[in-house]
Amino acid sequence: MSLKLLPRRSPLAKLSHSASIIGLLLLGSVTPAIAAFVQPARSDLDMVVSAHPLATAAGVAMLRQGGNAVDGAVATALAIAVVEPFSAGIGGGGFALWHEAETGEVTALDFRERAPAAAGRDMYLDVTGEPQSQLSRNGHLAVGVPGTVAGLYALHQRYGELPWNRVVQPSRVMASQGFVVSDRLERAIAGSAERLAQNPAAAAVFLSGGNPLQAGDILRQPDLAKTLSQIAVDPNDFYEGETAAAIASDMQANGGLITQADLKAYKPIWRDPICGPFRQYEVCSMPPPSSGGVHLLQMLNLLGDTDLAAPGWHHPDGLHLLAEVMKIAYADRAEHLGDPDFVEVPVAALTSPAYAAARREEIEPQRARSAAEVKAADAETLERYSNLKESNDTTHLTVVDGDRNALSMTYTINGSFGAGVVAAGTGIVLNNEMDDFSIAPGTPNLYGLVGGEANAVAPGKTPLSSMTPTIVLEDDQLRMAVGSPGGSTIITTVLQIILNVLVYDMDAGAAVSAPRIHHQWLPETLRIEQYGFDQLTVDALEARGHQLQFRGGWGDANAIVVGPDGKLAGAADPRGEGTAQGSH
Ligand code: GLY
Repeated sequence: MSLKLLPRRSPLAKLSHSASIIGLLLLGSVTPAIAAFVQPARSDLDMVVSAHPLATAAGVAMLRQGGNAVDGAVATALAIAVVEPFSAGIGGGGFALWHEAETGEVTALDFRERAPAAAGRDMYLDVTGEPQSQLSRNGHLAVGVPGTVAGLYALHQRYGELPWNRVVQPSRVMASQGFVVSDRLERAIAGSAERLAQNPAAAAVFLSGGNPLQAGDILRQPDLAKTLSQIAVDPNDFYEGETAAAIASDMQANGGLITQADLKAYKPIWRDPICGPFRQYEVCSMPPPSSGGVHLLQMLNLLGDTDLAAPGWHHPDGLHLLAEVMKIAYADRAEHLGDPDFVEVPVAALTSPAYAAARREEIEPQRARSAAEVKAADAETLERYSNLKESNDTTHLTVVDGDRNALSMTYTINGSFGAGVVAAGTGIVLNNEMDDFSIAPGTPNLYGLVGGEANAVAPGKTPLSSMTPTIVLEDDQLRMAVGSPGGSTIITTVLQIILNVLVYDMDAGAAVSAPRIHHQWLPETLRIEQYGFDQLTVDALEARGHQLQFRGGWGDANAIVVGPDGKLAGAADPRGEGTAQGSH
């Protein structure tokens, strides 16, 4: 979701906190800020939650046909590629976390894009050494080798129960028969229309007579339907067959780097999830090359035993603490996180409760510290804590089946409509994931994140991500599954939803609806959701020295929470158009 800078103060901000929530309910037309707290869908059996009603329906259809959470998730993810083409698709990649109820095990799959073999660390610098961010964001040079098809197939091969072609079927039908363009898709196409117009294959899909498709139009994607049909028969077609040849030839014709050899070499990677305790729960999330799990656990550790509930939800003391905790995590992210197959990532130290306890001491309860004061851990600190043996525009979908297996998946083509190009003849919108590398030290990416050597471009390397698909267990049983899109804001969105449920006892609907804050160390601003916080809170944060930046809603989270009665409650973010639904 694109973020729009909004006026620093709004008339609504003068309302008291509870009055401002009532105001939200009355002013349902206020967008893109949250419109209201959604009611969760409830089910005592199973649940699918995704960013689009048709994608949720595809997943539910699989559960009704006797499929499990993986069957539901794969069908949902492929449907997202059709109905939410700006956010994610088979031209991108992602991460999935799977919880098997019978064994209690959690497994992680990395199907993120990789840099092509011809990529190099200076590929986005001009002859004078100046970084050229537009090259890592737009056009064929921005594209990483896509992993979605290989990833979904690997998940299905290992855990799925229905035939592969059955889980591909709903997306193929949606692409072939078309579907009604929603307001949200209309806004997304309009927002990228200039870029899409420059690529004939993209323009043919998303523009009509040179004009962006509008809400109410039918979007049919025959090329994508053909590609999905080929994948339904043989998923390897994407990597070694006709689809691979079409992608490679489109790359060659347009100055891209991806070759048939790059596609053939692509492999998804099973990884150990990163898990750690928070209160009585075990929180499991995505390890590097996502930074999500490391910094989610780091922030939970930094909060530690602090009694967040005592002052009350969204009390300025609690919000200040959250902002200071976020700064420490994102300072460490910029310095230390990268692809673990290329650089040593100090996961143990960064997720160590002892390290967090030491860093907590720095936080001043009444003063916001500047970025210069908040340092990444130095080598000596990392060494000290790594030796302690301690327990240790994107989319998200969450599926729980009748056996309480859970699948939490975040996947993406990065920016809205990725690189803004469609591989001719395939209908595949290609990602611009190369921008998630640090194209030069200190040069911010699309999300304003900076990085250094650990996340420099290299052939075959995976760009650092913030995607944070997460599963929380209590006594080895599922307690909640959650995730969100939102680039750099993903980790803090997931953090706040987890706290809303586990600390503040909110149901799934309130937890994903609640207003959010975000700090990422640099830039030195505390993002605060417009209409979400009353003036007394705003004043109290400013008095501590926070530079506030009011923004419309960000993220498009969803969550499934197991309630005290054992029933599932699922909710899709009211900031988007998603839905939650059980199979009966
Ligand atoms: N493309 C955004 C992320 O992976 O964090």
